[in-house]
Amino acid sequence: MNPVSLTAVSTTANIVNSADAPHASTDALLQQLQGAPVPKHIAIIMDGNGRWARSRHMPRPFGHRAGMKAVRAVVEASIAAGVEWLSLFAFSQENWQRPQPEISALMSLLEEYIQSELRELREQGVRIRVHGDLSRLNAAAAAAVERAVAETAHCTRLGLNLFISYGGRAELVRAMQLVAKDVQAGVITPEQVDEDTIRARLFTQDCPDPDLLIRTSGERRLSNFMLWQVAYAELYISNVLWPDFDRTALFEAILDFQGRDRRFGKVDK
Ligand code: FPP
Repeated sequence: MNPVSLTAVSTTANIVNSADAPHASTDALLQQLQGAPVPKHIAIIMDGNGRWARSRHMPRPFGHRAGMKAVRAVVEASIAAGVEWLSLFAFSQENWQRPQPEISALMSLLEEYIQSELRELREQGVRIRVHGDLSRLNAAAAAAVERAVAETAHCTRLGLNLFISYGGRAELVRAMQLVAKDVQAGVITPEQVDEDTIRARLFTQDCPDPDLLIRTSGERRLSNFMLWQVAYAELYISNVLWPDFDRTALFEAILDFQGRDRRFGKVDK
C-alpha cells in the first residue's frame, strides 16, 4: 500500500492500491520504525469488510470473518512495534440498524474471537477493555466480553480497547450526565468543571488520547468515533480494505506518522 496521509489527498486518484506499489519487507519496516518514537496509542476505524466480501461475490459476514483475522494480525503487529494502546471500532450504535442476520453474525464473531484468541491474548500480555452500550448485547456476547475483561485485567503489555455498540456523542452525553449528577450532589461546582472533569468520565479515562487515527477503505470520516479523544490525533487514511490490512500496512502507517510535524496548535521554536 502506498498509504495516503489526509493532508496529501487532493483527489481520489491520489489513492493507490497496495498491490500496485512495491514496499520494503515487513521486517525492514519494523526495524525502520524503531528508529523513532512510535505512537503510544493507535485508534482504528476498521472499514471495508462488506466491499471486500462483495468483490468476492460473497455475503457481508464473510468479510467480517476475514476482518477478524486482520484484528489478530494488527494486535500482534502493534505489540511488535511497541504500541501501548490499540483502540478498535468494532460495532457502532448505528450498526444496530443493519439487517438482523449481519448483526447476529457480528455478535457471533465477537464471541468466537474471544473464545479462540483469549488464551493467546493473555499470554501476549493484552489487556482487553470493551466500551459502549453493552446493555444491548445478547447474553452470550455480554458473557464473553465480561470474561475477556476479567481474564486479562492483569495484563500490561498492550491495552486493547474494543468499541462495541459505541457512539462518540453518546459517550459524551454519558460523561455530561455524570458531571451533572456530581454538580447536583455538590461534589463539584459548575466553575470547577474543566477538561479533566470530562476526561475522567469517559470510557477511556485511564489511557492517553490516540496519537494516530487510521481509517481503512479510503473513507475520510470520523463516523462518531472517539470524538473527544481524537482532538489532536494524526489522521491516516488507507485505501486498503480492512480484511487486507496487515502487519505491513500498520508499520507503513506508523512510519507515515513518524514523518508528521505535530505542533498541537503551537509554532515551531
Ligand atoms: C465495517 O465494514 C466493519 C464493521 C462494521 C465491523 C468490524 C468487525 C470486524 C473487523 C470483525 C470482528 C471484530 C472483532 C474485534 C472480533 P463495513 O461492513 O461497513 O464495510 P463496507 O463499508 O465495505 O460495507
